[in-house]
Amino acid sequence: MGAAPHFLGQMRKCVIVSAFGVLASVLASAAPDAASLERGKAVYSRTCIACHQPTGMGLPPVFPPLAGSEWVAKDASIAVRNIVNGMQGPITVKGVTYNSMMPPVAGLSDRDIADVVTYVANSWGNKGPSVTEAQVKSIKLKYVDRAAPWYAYELSEELAPKPAPAPVAEVRRPSVRPPAENQKKPENKRGFGSGMVFTEKGHVFTNHHVIKNYSKYYIVTYENGILKKKLPATLIKKDPQSDLAILQCREWNAPEGSPRLPPPIVPSRQCKLGAPVFVLGFPLPGTVSSNVKYTNGSVSDMSGLRDDSREIQHTAQIQPGNSGGPMALADGRIVGIVVSSLSESYALRASGALPQGVNFSVKSDYILNLAAIAEIDLPSAKPSSEPIEHVKAYTVQIMCED
Ligand code: HEC
Repeated sequence: MGAAPHFLGQMRKCVIVSAFGVLASVLASAAPDAASLERGKAVYSRTCIACHQPTGMGLPPVFPPLAGSEWVAKDASIAVRNIVNGMQGPITVKGVTYNSMMPPVAGLSDRDIADVVTYVANSWGNKGPSVTEAQVKSIKLKYVDRAAPWYAYELSEELAPKPAPAPVAEVRRPSVRPPAENQKKPENKRGFGSGMVFTEKGHVFTNHHVIKNYSKYYIVTYENGILKKKLPATLIKKDPQSDLAILQCREWNAPEGSPRLPPPIVPSRQCKLGAPVFVLGFPLPGTVSSNVKYTNGSVSDMSGLRDDSREIQHTAQIQPGNSGGPMALADGRIVGIVVSSLSESYALRASGALPQGVNFSVKSDYILNLAAIAEIDLPSAKPSSEPIEHVKAYTVQIMCED
């Protein structure tokens, strides 16, 4: 009995996949339909244009071209797979090697994906096949277990021979290891990140990647590089998908004189394009300063990413140790959790394409969700007249140990 649902699932997969085989052969020769191209152009303008550009020419050496791309011509499933999972690592397009990262494009329906891939394959002189919604569904089904971004050689071994085994490149996530002298004993590994206390009961949000390799968690206070306070915290809930975790530290108290309640977390839709935001987080302990660091910026205008993914893109510079800290609107309402800086992997500064850097925060909706799942009641807090001081009072440094 236990195996039956699984078996049925497998069967359903087979039926859908073989049905697609028939469908594909019928549709392969069809010319792209004008309505689909029209819709695809709209999707492209919303989601791909910021990187691959209106001309489809990309922005070498960071964003590869889609116009004349052998990858687009090769097989429509390549673009579909990139949209669903993203891609990373070296890829050679029209003789130029790129080595950056395309994030998955979230928020597109199967029809949107079919339309945009059809548009890309049939624009700027490209003459590819049209792709249908059914084909998109079957491609997704085929790779349903895949979570990580693709490498070029996985998309086509013909276009990119599989490299000799090498260390896997990762997107830089700014959670940090302490300075080398503290790392002498591998059995005493430590990691650091930031977080924010968001209930009176000491619930703290942070990034999952800050805590994931450790079993003990603390809220710590450093003074002049020396550990002053170390309060134990327990893991309440984690969500690797959205890169969030909730810890609880009952012993923690807000600094004297700060508002009794933490700053409110509000739905991310209250954060509009161009809105000024600030982020707070702790730098590497024992280095420049032990104090919480403030930077500000605004919600970036690359609207495709902002609208379509679980992350908000902004220009407030972050650095190692910031991961898991709050991102707030100017009035102190929390709309995101600092998560990563892709500026290095995009090498945007090198290319000069985006002078202000590209930083990401997980949308507050995901922490609101996770808190709801964990049945944590949020206080009905209000922003205060001193928003930066308020958020700062509740921003904490997190230390993890094995
Ligand atoms: C945030 C920037 C960004 C967005 C948005 C984006 N891409 Fe990409 N895309 C890239 C980068 C960077 C690469 C190369 C990644 C690498 O170096 O591994 C790439 C690679 C590709 C490739 C394979 C290489 C080539 O040039 O043919 C295809 C196809 C592609 N993207 C299609 C799309 C489509 C379609 C969309 C919109 C639905 C899209 N991308 C959205 C940045 C982006």
